[in-house]
Amino acid sequence: MSGVHLENGDLRQRLADELEAVRQRSLDLLSPLDDDALFRQHSPLMSPLVWDLAHVGNYEELWLLREVAGAAPIDAALDDVYDAFRHPRAGRPSLPLLGPAESRRYLVDVRGRALDALEKAVLDGDGDGRALLAGGFVYGMVVQHEHQHDETMLATLQLMAGAGYRPLAPPPPAAVDPPPSGEVYVPAGPFVMGTDREPFAYDNERPAHVVDLPAFRIDAGPVTNGRYLEFVLDGGYDRPELWEAEGWTWRVDNDVRHPQFWVREGRDWTRDRYGFHEDLPLDEPVQHVCWYEADAFALWAGKRLPTEAEWEKAASWTPDGVKRRFPWGDDEPTAAVANLGGGLYRPAPVGAYPAGASAYGCHQMIGDVWEWTASDFEPYPGFASFPYREYSEVFFGPDYKVLRGGSWATSPAAVRNTFRNWDYPIRRQIFSGFRCARSG
Ligand code: AVJ
Ligand code: FE
Repeated sequence: MSGVHLENGDLRQRLADELEAVRQRSLDLLSPLDDDALFRQHSPLMSPLVWDLAHVGNYEELWLLREVAGAAPIDAALDDVYDAFRHPRAGRPSLPLLGPAESRRYLVDVRGRALDALEKAVLDGDGDGRALLAGGFVYGMVVQHEHQHDETMLATLQLMAGAGYRPLAPPPPAAVDPPPSGEVYVPAGPFVMGTDREPFAYDNERPAHVVDLPAFRIDAGPVTNGRYLEFVLDGGYDRPELWEAEGWTWRVDNDVRHPQFWVREGRDWTRDRYGFHEDLPLDEPVQHVCWYEADAFALWAGKRLPTEAEWEKAASWTPDGVKRRFPWGDDEPTAAVANLGGGLYRPAPVGAYPAGASAYGCHQMIGDVWEWTASDFEPYPGFASFPYREYSEVFFGPDYKVLRGGSWATSPAAVRNTFRNWDYPIRRQIFSGFRCARSG
């Protein structure tokens, strides 16, 4: 999502359009589901979908009505029910949730008032550049939040049992011939990590700071299903020496033998994807692997996961020393350069977006699959929490690993070269894959 150098009237319209677009996306996503499918908990890892639905409305109420417009609560009880910190996902089915119709009415009510407030909002801030309204920041934050929950809901729908959710989607674009393979070389030297310029960047992406890296090589594309299958067939899941100790325990305790949603049928490999049961596409990036699986594969391949800094340098830096907002340059994503937005319901083959490659020649760094990195989620030097500690700060530390680049399910409005995602190293219901790197 841009917003750089827009006149205030244009910015206001742009923000209203983005609010409208994400709401349409949320409602479209849930429209095929009956009330039972919305109330049911499809996995203890996920919320009932109807919780996500009203939660995005409550977040919008808290930020765009109460904070920006100084409004009184619509119903103070909702703040508790939809507080993600007070109620972990597993317990959300027993909360006094709004029903689907009530939730939709609540969303309409909040949105009407939020658009009224946007008409009057002063978007200039107070000059320090980090005020809540400066450049429309808080509106971009609310838009990104709802898109993040749309991606979470797509993960929930993938976990929904049976053939209930069968989205219509065009086929992904074909790979270039031959597809990118091998590695690219990134010479030693400093680059600028993070940003002070992205108008809608989160606190954890700031401030921009120089990081000097030794030379490294990084895969030109994400690891494919075909390559990952070689690891599986070579006994990768039977060799503890490839796994971190906690990862091996996780593998054994859960009897994991392949990525989530893969199915072995004798010698054939298939996968479940929403309501579809299909051949495993060998040229597609592997997804639904946890950090431990990615790390074990990398060791098996004689490599390692890239650090977060290596990933960002390979995606955003140019040999001329210019920082790009996206791998291909500063222009907003389009369907010609990246698989984003959720419309394909799957990753595209490696090599499907040659026009989206980075200056160093890395393909598909934005879109398709989130990429695990070697790094823990930590603040950058000079980090300052903004506008609330519970977005980033409370998650800093060794418990979470960083993922980069967004997936096919991520909105173009909610990802960029500096965007940082994080999750527990055992999580794989997310749309997670990886690429490998090595030093020198
Ligand atoms: C940044 C994706 C880890 O989904 O837990 C949603 C985003 N924060 N609501 C998450 C978020 C508050 C967050 N991640
Ligand atoms: Fe949330």
